[in-house]
Amino acid sequence: MGKQKHAKKQRQQQQQRSRRGFYGSEEEEERNEVIVPSSEEEVEKKTDNEEEEEGNEDEEEDQSTECPSKFSLYQESVQSPKGDISYLQKFFLMYVGGRLPLHLQEDFCGTALLSAEWLRSDSRRTAVGVDLDLEALTWSLENNVNKIGADGYSRISLFHGDVLQPKAAKLVKYKIQDDMKNMTLDDCEGRSLETESATEVGTGDPITDEPVKENSMLPPRDIVCAFNYSCCCLQKRRDLVLYFKHVLDTLSSRGGIFVMDVYGGTSSEHGLRLQRRFPNFTYIWEQAEFDIIHRTTRISLHYNLRKQQRKIRHAFSYSWRLWSLPEIKDCLEEAGFKSVHFWIRQMPDTREVRNSEGFGVGRDVKYEEVSTFEQQDAWNAYIVGVTN
Ligand SMILES: C[S@@+](CC[C@H](N)C(=O)[O-])C[C@H]1O[C@@H](n2cnc3c(N)ncnc32)[C@H](O)[C@@H]1O
Repeated sequence: MGKQKHAKKQRQQQQQRSRRGFYGSEEEEERNEVIVPSSEEEVEKKTDNEEEEEGNEDEEEDQSTECPSKFSLYQESVQSPKGDISYLQKFFLMYVGGRLPLHLQEDFCGTALLSAEWLRSDSRRTAVGVDLDLEALTWSLENNVNKIGADGYSRISLFHGDVLQPKAAKLVKYKIQDDMKNMTLDDCEGRSLETESATEVGTGDPITDEPVKENSMLPPRDIVCAFNYSCCCLQKRRDLVLYFKHVLDTLSSRGGIFVMDVYGGTSSEHGLRLQRRFPNFTYIWEQAEFDIIHRTTRISLHYNLRKQQRKIRHAFSYSWRLWSLPEIKDCLEEAGFKSVHFWIRQMPDTREVRNSEGFGVGRDVKYEEVSTFEQQDAWNAYIVGVTN
């Protein structure tokens, strides 16, 4: 192997180890950041070298020129569900305890990768996902849920709808049994799950809007989560409080937790462009200028596909309000959560990573529970709301 190829191989191995995310880490236990899907996807033939230098270094890579799904690219570049789940378990044991958490709700679930991983790790587990993006939900059924195993479809329920109106959300089906297909999220709360379904995959209407069947019920959730800064999609305080009230209604009366994440730091309050190379593509996080009156910004995720010589611009984009930690705490308490805990970790300095190996290659810093934390260039936080 020539010197150049050897260096390339090493770089690829390092990237594979270093996992994914906005500011990722090499550590399995740690998680990474996110980005958001939108309908603004644009696929362009690559015409310039704006974001990255191209060379002949693809020789040994996958020869396929088929464009991968934007959801696959997102999952590979952004998500790290095992790390999230290990923190969810830890938080549940610390703040609730006394039983194993079995029932998860993933709000703003997108492709519900976390839910799929949750089911994979214990056959007693169930998961509920809610998202506005029907395309992401159906993609999940075809590409994530189908990999869980024979009973995967019977343990997961993906709902298409607004987290602010959970009772109006509709179950997304993928040729599932008739008993299940008429369920809405409204009908599922507080009752036991009946999963006698003989799930079939491959055909059928993606969504149901028929009345509910009484015996298709879901258990109260032990954990509800909203990851990858999803709560920043809610821009009004009253909406945030309303959402937290819905979460509280969903959680088990035996005790449960809500876990969300948010990022911050001085780098989060101005325009920023970061990129990270993966073996077959480059992932670009673009943060628009920050409006200090509304605390809003717009995030766009772009992908440059090396082999296909294509760019997918705005594969995902959205408008966010960057909630501060005390604002989130106030809203959780106002909604009725009994205690709120902050777990923070410092992220790699964006001024250093911007032009080096790329954001996402981070130090192995773990999240720690804190009561004070000095401002940094970049940090990431889990916020845990506990019901009782
Ligand atoms: C940043 S993505 C996060 C996806 C996934 N949770 C993850 O960890 O990668 C935010 C998701 O929230 C969804 N979303 C935004 N507003 C929503 C709302 N009001 N109700 C339900 N889903 C919403 C979007 O469709 C998108 O899939």
